[in-house]
Amino acid sequence: MAATLEQLIREDDTDGFLVNRDIYRDPEVFEWEMRYLFEGTWNLLGLESQIRRPHDYFTTHIGRAPVIVTRDGGGQVHCLLNTCRHKGAMVCHMQQGNARTFVCQYHGWAYDAGGRNILIKDKDQGAYPECFDRIGHDLEPVRVGVYRGFIFGSLNPDVPPLEEYLGDLRAMIDLIVDQSPQGVECIPGRGAFLFRGNWKLQMENGVDPYHFSSTHLSYIQALRRRSDKASVYSTFKSADLQRGTFAFKHGHNAMWGPAPSDKTTPLSYVKDELVLRVGETRARWMMSVRNITMFPNAQFAENASLQLRIWRPLAADRTEMRTFCLAPVGEPAEARALRIRQYEEFFNPSGLATPDDIANYEDCQRGFAAATVQWQQGQARGTAMLGQKQCPEADELGIRPESAVVGSFTLGDETVMHSTYRYWKALIAQGLARDGGGEELGQ
Ligand code: FES
Ligand SMILES: [Fe+2]
Repeated sequence: MAATLEQLIREDDTDGFLVNRDIYRDPEVFEWEMRYLFEGTWNLLGLESQIRRPHDYFTTHIGRAPVIVTRDGGGQVHCLLNTCRHKGAMVCHMQQGNARTFVCQYHGWAYDAGGRNILIKDKDQGAYPECFDRIGHDLEPVRVGVYRGFIFGSLNPDVPPLEEYLGDLRAMIDLIVDQSPQGVECIPGRGAFLFRGNWKLQMENGVDPYHFSSTHLSYIQALRRRSDKASVYSTFKSADLQRGTFAFKHGHNAMWGPAPSDKTTPLSYVKDELVLRVGETRARWMMSVRNITMFPNAQFAENASLQLRIWRPLAADRTEMRTFCLAPVGEPAEARALRIRQYEEFFNPSGLATPDDIANYEDCQRGFAAATVQWQQGQARGTAMLGQKQCPEADELGIRPESAVVGSFTLGDETVMHSTYRYWKALIAQGLARDGGGEELGQ
């Protein structure tokens, strides 16, 4: 095979928007993605609420690089490469905790919570040359940005400012954060998925309204068998309901739909307060169903509860995903209990919905082994609706998406990924040009 980047994403009037299956299965494409997407731009790392106290930390990855996100004694947030300056060992092995120091288990070098080297074991023996003192021994810092309590990191010092990178996606993030005057927090605990599938299968599925009625049939049927108050999705059949998608700059996007029901979401407990504080329109948006992609590594899903997913691609056909339940700070106890129950029911590894999605990713990846089939047919739905000039829904939020599609409840738009894949291609093309070629796969 000798496809070029140009041949992986194609777009023309004759064939429409086409995605080549090699983007999900070729190890060299995976290398490009690591280098030019995950290690080239901003990644969502977590929430400030995960490191509330001085010396709290959690560990994660940016692309292939292990990092520690810490709060130092003075309250400042740092992101540090989790690799000892001596010989490279990771200095922190826990997923989260509270530590004033990180002591390397190999030869005992120690660092404070801000990454400053505070001990080189037995340095006073006089065994080091003079030049050794002229180099830094601190943990390598990573560029950090915080937007409304969400912590981002980038390995690329030349990345655009975070707010510019997020662009209009900020309006969608604000709809999450403004649900409480004190913002949003991460409920303790997390889920973890490890699946034999490409990370983009998750990214696409998170904003794919088309799959719901077939993939999640058992979930829908289980709800229908219950009493009406649990029927989060039972109100979704009406023909006059609309759903839509927004595609933003820099690969971000969103899909949205009507609120499930007045009685069954955690936010219905605070609806009056919300309307008073943020107004009728934004309160309606907060109560609606919204899934958003924070390119390249995270998604939020808000329906019966609120989930944050952060994925870490491990190989072209393997992905790790950590999932968190988020909640407005200070919500009523009944709302919090309902949020957690509905989270468990829908999103958890033991839940009724997400495991079905994961099974589909693995199934797609197995199907991709049919190497002679080159092109997906999953980017076309909604194309007929593209180019709609007016979008009152975007106007309501004061945003200017690159594209917006609004249609019937069963429209199942797929064009929302077009902007994302254009950006995907542009970042890789820029990276390859900077690094001087190697564009042809298999070189
Ligand atoms: S590798 Fe950390 S002290 Fe040697
Ligand atoms: Fe799903």
